[in-house]
Amino acid sequence: MDEPTFYRYLLWGSLVVAALIFPALFFITAPYGRHEAKSWGPTVDNRTGWLLMESPSVLVFFACFYVGGCPTDPASLAFLFLWQLHYVHRAYIFPFRIKSGPKRMPIAIAGAGFAFTSLNAYLNGRWLFGLAGPDRYAAAWLSDPRFFLGAAIFLAGFAINQQADWILLHLRKPGETGYKIPRGGFYRWVSCPNYFGEIIEWIGFAICTWSLPGLAFALWTIANLLPRALSHHRWYREKFPDYPTERKALVPGLL
Ligand SMILES: NC(=O)c1ccc[n+]([C@@H]2O[C@H](COP(=O)([O-])OP(=O)(O)OC[C@H]3O[C@@H](n4cnc5c(N)ncnc54)[C@H](OP(=O)(O)O)[C@@H]3O)[C@@H](O)[C@H]2O)c1
Repeated sequence: MDEPTFYRYLLWGSLVVAALIFPALFFITAPYGRHEAKSWGPTVDNRTGWLLMESPSVLVFFACFYVGGCPTDPASLAFLFLWQLHYVHRAYIFPFRIKSGPKRMPIAIAGAGFAFTSLNAYLNGRWLFGLAGPDRYAAAWLSDPRFFLGAAIFLAGFAINQQADWILLHLRKPGETGYKIPRGGFYRWVSCPNYFGEIIEWIGFAICTWSLPGLAFALWTIANLLPRALSHHRWYREKFPDYPTERKALVPGLL
């Protein structure tokens, strides 16, 4: 089988799996963080789990860039910049900012995360720096409204995600491991603005690249984070009797 055929199977297969996983995640909440559970087998510490889950996004995407001949056209460099802006932080800075104490993560979850990020980095990187062909993102793409609108949406989502995570990561004083009600920023409107920002980012990336792998990644992100946001929201309401009643779970004013 040649690579384009393998790639096509993988891309459509990933969409089918995302469509199956999405409903399942309304019933099974991935057991890490506040939803930690003992029944998921051997575990690794949280920081190692995050490094393992997120590193392929950086490394596989760079590998695709390298295999694609390190293209220096502006669109390729812009895609590389946007992707790595998010993932260098997520893989190599975020894990050292978390204050989870002795909390651990099942190896099964870290492994699933590893598979998920490897797949998405390959599908997007290989498309953008190779399989799309040399003319797909030629110089004219930079003046296409889809490019700069998508990039602007991505950057807005990145800012929301960063601000939301920053607020969460500053709730605990050194040594604390419990939970508090987050306030300020988009927490005025929703319980999980970090997930909301992340979804906006990858919708922006899909528009910016106007590609099926970009769309597949945005759908995967929604499939992962929408059910988890609903679980977080329910958890906050059960745990804190004074939790703000007007706050939605994920999308301001809607959901
Ligand atoms: N693209 C994707 O599919 C995907 C999937 C998963 C995550 N992500 C991204 O990865 C980042 C982290 O995700 P996550 O699921 O770990 O988010 P999270 O549940 O909101 O937790 C983020 C961090 O803040 C701490 N925290 C959360 N709520 C807190 C509170 N009320 N009081 C004190 N500390 C609190 C958590 O500690 P504990 O660990 O102790 O709970 C954790 O260290 C997010 O930006 C998310 O968008 C992306």
